[in-house]
Amino acid sequence: MKPYQFILALLVGSFISCVTHSEQVKYKELSIVPKPIQLEQNQTPAFISKTTAIVFDANNNKLLQSAENFNSFLKKHYQFDLGLNIKSDHMVSLIIKKFSNEEEAYQLTTNERGIVITANSGKGVYHGIQTLKQLIYPAQTVINGKLKVPGVKISDAPAYSWRGLHLDVSRHFYDKAELMKILDGMAEAKMNIFHWHLTDDQGWRIEIKKYPLLTKIGAYRDSMIIGHMADYPSKHKIERYGGFYTQEDIKEVVTYADRLGIAVVPEIEMPGHAVAALQAYPQFSCKGEGVPAFSEWGVSEHVFCAGNDDTFTFLEDILSEVIELFPGQYIHVGGDECPKTKWESCPKCQARMKKYGLKDEMELQSYFIKRMEKFISSKGKRLIGWNEILEGGLAEGAMVMSWQGLAGGIEAANEGHDVIMSPNAEVYLDHYQSSYYEPLAIAGLTTPREIYEWSPMPEEISDESRKHVLGAQCNVWTEYITTSDHLEYMIFPRLIALAEMLWLGEDKKDFNDFTDRMNEMYARLDVLDIKYRIPYPENLLPYIIFTEQKVNLPLTNNIPSSTILYTLNGDDPLVNGITYISPLDIDLENNIELKTVTVMPSGRNSNVITTQLKYRQAQSAVSLNNSIEGLNYELFKGEFSSAKKIAGESSKAIIDGIRKPEDAPNTFFAVKYTGFVEVPEDGLYRFKLTANDGAILNIHNELVIDLDGFSYGKEAYGSMHLKKGLHPIKLDFFQAKYGSDIRLEANLHGSDKKIDLKYFH
Ligand code: ACM
Ligand code: ZN
Repeated sequence: MKPYQFILALLVGSFISCVTHSEQVKYKELSIVPKPIQLEQNQTPAFISKTTAIVFDANNNKLLQSAENFNSFLKKHYQFDLGLNIKSDHMVSLIIKKFSNEEEAYQLTTNERGIVITANSGKGVYHGIQTLKQLIYPAQTVINGKLKVPGVKISDAPAYSWRGLHLDVSRHFYDKAELMKILDGMAEAKMNIFHWHLTDDQGWRIEIKKYPLLTKIGAYRDSMIIGHMADYPSKHKIERYGGFYTQEDIKEVVTYADRLGIAVVPEIEMPGHAVAALQAYPQFSCKGEGVPAFSEWGVSEHVFCAGNDDTFTFLEDILSEVIELFPGQYIHVGGDECPKTKWESCPKCQARMKKYGLKDEMELQSYFIKRMEKFISSKGKRLIGWNEILEGGLAEGAMVMSWQGLAGGIEAANEGHDVIMSPNAEVYLDHYQSSYYEPLAIAGLTTPREIYEWSPMPEEISDESRKHVLGAQCNVWTEYITTSDHLEYMIFPRLIALAEMLWLGEDKKDFNDFTDRMNEMYARLDVLDIKYRIPYPENLLPYIIFTEQKVNLPLTNNIPSSTILYTLNGDDPLVNGITYISPLDIDLENNIELKTVTVMPSGRNSNVITTQLKYRQAQSAVSLNNSIEGLNYELFKGEFSSAKKIAGESSKAIIDGIRKPEDAPNTFFAVKYTGFVEVPEDGLYRFKLTANDGAILNIHNELVIDLDGFSYGKEAYGSMHLKKGLHPIKLDFFQAKYGSDIRLEANLHGSDKKIDLKYFH
């Protein structure tokens, strides 16, 4: 391959086909998500017409619900209103007949007389109906009064029984209509658990009749941090904000979810993340004094007092009402991120520790959760907690949700506890979805591919303990998600990737095949009016270096039903865009600004993305008479807000690479690194910069990556065409209030192998 073809292949990345616009929107048949475990296609399609009947055991309410669900789908899309349990030559038959021990399994077959769905349970039939709907929409249209269902024999069941989404409604509140929309989107992909994070420091969201102040006071705040929590100085907005669900709202959401095959798991946080509750009922804090509303993101040290028996009565009263509202098996009590500072100086907490021989505050936390576990199990329910409930000893019947990596889940599963994997790095949906062009997020980068390729079943779990890994869930924390549109953007399509991964398990999944089937899934999400993130070419970085002057550039988003519009002169593609048909022939004698946007059949468009296209011959290496290992660095102490504005007194020294110098403080400093980076061969190098907070990378005095501003560990990419040898490098980095991380990695385009970068001065 020529170098530029090579780059093009990279640009295309995993995408297998180019998107071309066609007058007729193209949808494939048999595009089912999650993909069924077994699907045999045959030549016996079924047909549905106005005289087709849906037949089932009328005494079974679950079957009636499935029949009604299918009928309203047909009405909405095809204006068919089928008779239920009437006589007809053509039937959709829903049958419960036990054929295996898998509760969610189903079989779907077509024949000349219609469609038969057989399942072990109502849940299985419901999954069969979901599959049937996807066999029809959006690929099929009514022809001569008939709707075709392709000839198939499907036998299907999920690999994992816990396929969940967690949503924090405390940091930002979403009303029940929005929740129902999210539930619709989950059901479209056969997700079955909605974990509803109802209480936290910044707002109490569930009505508790015995303690009305929880919502009267605890559901509202008057001031909140705006921008990123890492911004310095931080800014606050003075505004009354809040909301809550009445018990009637809760029942409506739970009933709605149940009809979609989704169980709702309530979370009532304890002993930490309790400020909103303590704002309303300060007597359950250690000091018993007024606790102000928490106007920050992050963790507050105001937690429930573990030494006061009244705290337990209060929480048990609350849980008693919660248990009445949620018919499912599980009650989540949080348990994460509980600072122990108040307990350390509280006479009641200390007396409790003494009385029960608890050796430290970790064991006091364990006492707290164990006591709640006894109460919850006495009510016939199972307690779930975040992995911190392992600290100080795990309660006997507790289930663990592992969020700080997988270690907690591995430990608990190997001890015989059921676990749900939900590791922060892999499946948190408050992370960025791409390194560029995204709205403000907390940190991190989590793409659909990463979620899809991840597995909740680590090797460290012994064979006999594997059954304890029930599945996984994506968690959505909403500090930076303020609107419903933004919420849907963060959840979809990443949640669909999780849904298929958990349905298919480790052996059957195939990300490229999944991506292909998303074309039809987007059409289904459009019907639900879900404002999913519309993909744009992931590989169009803010600027791209080419190793040839004349390039042939494909633009692809892998959504054949969409249109890509572009301009090459800086104009807005939504106004003056040219419809993309085939790869662009571009001469890069001068740099070109490419703007692209994806427009879906619904008319919705993606973000507009801007890419500078540049041709560069390989930069010659420089020779140094006397190269010494290590970079020069200058360390500045002070409050910086931009890597472009680092100035003041400094100290100078040598460092072996791009990392935080030993003599730097933990916060409020800046570093300028200068010297030479050595690359091992001629080639197009891709650099990845991770910085907390901001950094700017120049090579040969040319900007390679601009990752300036406050962040919480963002990453960004840039490329440079370099000859083997030494190249002048300059990296300016600043660190403000939180964290501290600076890393530079590199690989050759087309290879994942990390280059061992060496530095000289
Ligand atoms: C968590 O993310 N604090 C469970
Ligand atoms: Zn206390």
